[in-house]
Amino acid sequence: MIVQRTFLFAFLIYVHFSRGFTKDDEICYHPRVNIHSECDFTESRQRLVCFNGFKDEWRARVKDVQVLILCVWPKATFDPQEILRGFTFLRKLIIANSNLTQLSTAFPNEMQFLEKINVIGTKLYLLPNDAFSNLRTLRCLDLRNNALEEINITVFDVPTLKDIYLTGNPLRCTEDVAWILDSSEGSAASKVVDKDKLLCATPHDGRPLVPVVKIIVTLKEECKETVCDCELIYVTPPGELTQRQLIVFISVNCSYRGLTEMPEFLPTDTNILHLSGNKIKDLTPLATNPAYKSLLDLYIDDNLVESIARLEGSDWLDHFRRLNLRGNKLTDLPTYALEDALLHNRNAANLYLGNNSWTCDCHFTPGFQDLLIRHPNIIKDINDIRCAFTSDNDNSNKQIRDLTRTEICILPDEDSWLHPLDILNIILASLIFLVLGKLLYDYWSFKKTGKLPWIVAKIP
Ligand SMILES: *[C@@H]1O[C@H](CO)[C@@H](O)[C@H](O)[C@H]1NC(C)=O
Ligand SMILES: *[C@@H]1O[C@H](CO)[C@@H](O)[C@H](O)[C@H]1NC(C)=O
Ligand SMILES: *[C@@H]1O[C@H](CO)[C@@H](O)[C@H](O)[C@H]1NC(C)=O
Ligand SMILES: *[C@@H]1O[C@H](CO)[C@@H](O)[C@H](O)[C@H]1NC(C)=O
Repeated sequence: MIVQRTFLFAFLIYVHFSRGFTKDDEICYHPRVNIHSECDFTESRQRLVCFNGFKDEWRARVKDVQVLILCVWPKATFDPQEILRGFTFLRKLIIANSNLTQLSTAFPNEMQFLEKINVIGTKLYLLPNDAFSNLRTLRCLDLRNNALEEINITVFDVPTLKDIYLTGNPLRCTEDVAWILDSSEGSAASKVVDKDKLLCATPHDGRPLVPVVKIIVTLKEECKETVCDCELIYVTPPGELTQRQLIVFISVNCSYRGLTEMPEFLPTDTNILHLSGNKIKDLTPLATNPAYKSLLDLYIDDNLVESIARLEGSDWLDHFRRLNLRGNKLTDLPTYALEDALLHNRNAANLYLGNNSWTCDCHFTPGFQDLLIRHPNIIKDINDIRCAFTSDNDNSNKQIRDLTRTEICILPDEDSWLHPLDILNIILASLIFLVLGKLLYDYWSFKKTGKLPWIVAKIP
């Protein structure tokens, strides 16, 4: 029984706090009767509770009120200058459970005792930057469970303010909230009590706000050192892959920037890099520059890359996810190294090699063709992988996949007699004819003269 009660109690406490209620605003969720625009004054606590608005007939009592609770505010706007006129001795204001969307004016400066403002569980998304700037005694500002997407830090510029609560708002995680990172004493961020519980709405829905904003701000800083555009495109939800650390995907776009080399510096953890439409020849940094350690996807179409031989045996080839090399100057590849890498690389998903001037000869092409045919899931543009376009070659511009061995290897090749082996063959054939001729001559000579050939006479 006691155990049950303890559980029930704990549960009620949990419900109480998880809905962001404080003792006083709870009353807004439990109207005793269905009352319209009715207020109730509790003398002992100097507390006025009003549902559905505030009627002027209560204005006579305003001087006695220290706690004002406004539940189910009927309008979209709340005008503090107008409504709170005369509440000179107010210490605490609560507005809860309302469809209110904006505070239209600043709180009036006649309220020189107001310590606490709770606007909780409303649709509030707009408040003037100077909303609280007239208040000389405000200590606590509770804005939980509203519809605030952006907050201009100037709104918290109130010297006496100590505690700010913001959870339950659909905050946008952009660099506009960079102020939240300022941990110095007295900063607005240091007053946000529930800072570590804040979550992003769009973008990066549901991810913890402070770490995400930190990533965005750092990325922006690092991006300034490049000629590129940088974007945080995805953050894995915490707990999905790792408990504490967020895994991020950063995309950097340096396409069409006239680059002749791969960038020496990239923002930390760049995973996706666009380098299309530049004049890059050399891919060596992929293998040697630590800035490329996290790179998974490289788009380097329409450049001047002649060879990927430098990637042979590199870590990068063993873990890349995507490599786009369309429209470069490639003529061949280290076929075996690539085959080996594709067998080990579990990430590899896309490899584009079309629109290059591939060599079609008996030395390179058979192995390359095998590679293409063995990895149809990875090599996505196999139809565009063609022999170089040349006027004097029968295979010019043909799809490499469809070439037969005969087409590749036995070409009408007029200088083939020059090959050393062919020369040897001709010599050997001539020798055979010479020997046969000599044999016939000896036979004929023996028949005619009876004389044995000279060599037979010499053999004992
Ligand atoms: C807010 O508006 C919704 C629908 O627009 C309505 O159902 C709800 O009762 C309103 N709540 C309050 C507290 O006025
Ligand atoms: C915040 O408000 C101040 C003053 O109204 C303005 O100068 C500033 O640009 C605003 N900041 C943002 C991020 O909107
Ligand atoms: C990269 O930037 C270029 C030029 O600024 C633009 O045309 C292209 O659409 C961008 N690419 C991506 C993937 O954002
Ligand atoms: C192939 O590259 C050439 C220039 O090198 C370009 O004009 C052509 O449009 C490209 N074709 C395809 C299919 O990408």
